[in-house]
Amino acid sequence: MASSSRQAGKGTADVFKTDFDVAAATDKDGIVGALNSAYVRDNNLKYMKMYDWMSYGYDVVEKIVGGFKYGKEIQKVRRQLMAEPEWKESARVLYVSIGTGTDLKFFPADSRPESLDFYGADVSIGMLRKCKKNYANSGIQPKLIHACAEDLPFADNSFDIVFHVGGINFFTDKAKAISEMLRVAKPGSKLMLADETADYVESEYKKSVFAKKYFADAEFDLGELEAAIPSTVKERKTTMLWDGKFYCITFRKPGGKSAAKPKAKARRR
Ligand SMILES: C[S@@+](CC[C@H](N)C(=O)[O-])C[C@H]1O[C@@H](n2cnc3c(N)ncnc32)[C@H](O)[C@@H]1O
Repeated sequence: MASSSRQAGKGTADVFKTDFDVAAATDKDGIVGALNSAYVRDNNLKYMKMYDWMSYGYDVVEKIVGGFKYGKEIQKVRRQLMAEPEWKESARVLYVSIGTGTDLKFFPADSRPESLDFYGADVSIGMLRKCKKNYANSGIQPKLIHACAEDLPFADNSFDIVFHVGGINFFTDKAKAISEMLRVAKPGSKLMLADETADYVESEYKKSVFAKKYFADAEFDLGELEAAIPSTVKERKTTMLWDGKFYCITFRKPGGKSAAKPKAKARRR
């Protein structure tokens, strides 16, 4: 069926693995189903269920509760994170764990998001449906993929930019997810992984009336996550944001052209 609602499958032939039938996998809302049940277990299963029901209130809770508690701090950290990827005209981008797509409101002012070929993957169909609604009438319309980070349906070396925000702390298999992100990123491209620190998980999630039952036994170790990143990557850097509540790890996939030189500053006369 070639209806306009099947837009996720359009013009994507070279992005997906050759044996993946994207047209057959695309639902009536244009979301591509690529969930490998082998990875929908343990934490992935628990948090998929949690985000499916939370998807209804996720944006409102961040706006109202987050705004009340933290003022503009959440927006500030989102803006800082969205300044990390190397945005360029017409780049093909993958956001792993796109959720409801909130970060798409925080592109740097000098980027042109409407020129991007933007893909978002997430394990929660509820979050993806909300994202679809949020961007139905916007200049940027992410192509949405229902998949675990641990098994992405994309071909090797497909994306100019790959990044992740907010879920990796509790992925079932972090090392596999990182190797998948590296696999689908083009050689030489910069990747970013960002999430909350263990302190924030303790002080926020374990106390949240909405989430505490899901995080009661949750433990996160940043050192373990860093150790799961292959030693072959280049320019690896970990930065703390928002008074240590968030971490951001960036690195570059080996190969390809070396990093773009920083733009020369315009001379003032
Ligand atoms: C805290 S939310 C963050 C959503 C979004 N990135 C944001 O910043 O608002 C975590 C997201 O990670 C997704 N997620 C959890 N485990 C995942 C996995 N194994 N693969 C892909 N997405 C996953 C959840 O469904 C959820 O949408």
